[in-house]
Amino acid sequence: MVIIITGASVGFGLACARKFAKMGDKIIAIARREDKLLALQDELGAESCAIIACDVTQSQMLETKIQEVLDSRGWGIDVLINNAGLALGLAPANECDIADWERMIEVNVLALVSLSHFVLPIMIAQNSGHIINIGSIAGSYPYPGSTVYGATKAFVKQFSLNLRADLYDKNIRVSNIEPGLSGGSEFSLVRFKGDCARADSVYEGTTPLLPEDIAEVVCFVAHLPAHININRIEMMPTTQAPATLNVAKR
Ligand SMILES: NC(=O)c1ccc[n+]([C@@H]2O[C@H](COP(=O)([O-])OP(=O)(O)OC[C@H]3O[C@@H](n4cnc5c(N)ncnc54)[C@H](OP(=O)(O)O)[C@@H]3O)[C@@H](O)[C@H]2O)c1
Repeated sequence: MVIIITGASVGFGLACARKFAKMGDKIIAIARREDKLLALQDELGAESCAIIACDVTQSQMLETKIQEVLDSRGWGIDVLINNAGLALGLAPANECDIADWERMIEVNVLALVSLSHFVLPIMIAQNSGHIINIGSIAGSYPYPGSTVYGATKAFVKQFSLNLRADLYDKNIRVSNIEPGLSGGSEFSLVRFKGDCARADSVYEGTTPLLPEDIAEVVCFVAHLPAHININRIEMMPTTQAPATLNVAKR
């Protein structure tokens, strides 16, 4: 299979690239940091791994580059993993920077929608395909400081379900994978804008999910027999459970 993975330079996306490559799949790895993509290509081999250094919000440029890879290698697209995404900040809504909110919407929502829209005609012409979105438990469970991040992931969840409603008779699968607390990636470092100590403190005393755990599930979902569609998978580390209801008391 040919697998497009956004955000393949580190974290979940990198772990997915390695896992799928081990299964014999071909990878189109997308992220902004070319040095990291080159290292991945070196590791997996240029025959089976194409790289595209591009910001996913530059949709037109990205689509042109993907089309070039497909044409030059004679590949189709079997799976699109919409993984690139980010949270910025954890402040209460009234203290947030609007630029952070807009950036999360651009990357987590608009770029994901654009790329999905781009692959759909290709998958429909093939009469096969699978879009796997990386959502989050933040799309189902509110927590303080997650105003827009959680909202973007709620969008991704409903977008995934609604896509299925349109695609059920076109042999195209759509899955939303919704991880909880996950370490081993740059997620918290990005959220706290390079504050390593604050990022590390998120995982102190816990055993979080790791990128390899997410890759395991994504790969399982993608490699199931073609007549099975996993709509959603919500996954948490054993040390996490949803149980927050706040009551303000005078
Ligand atoms: N870690 C968690 O706790 C957690 C939990 C649930 C869901 N998630 C979701 O899982 C996904 C992956 O998270 P992660 O933990 O692996 O985070 P990460 O380590 O920060 O990785 C994010 C990846 O996305 C890429 N990326 C970010 N913005 C991009 C852009 N504008 N254009 C192209 N690539 C971009 C980054 O590469 P470059 O910087 O090289 O561009 C990187 O490869 C995200 O959608 C996140 O919301 C994470």
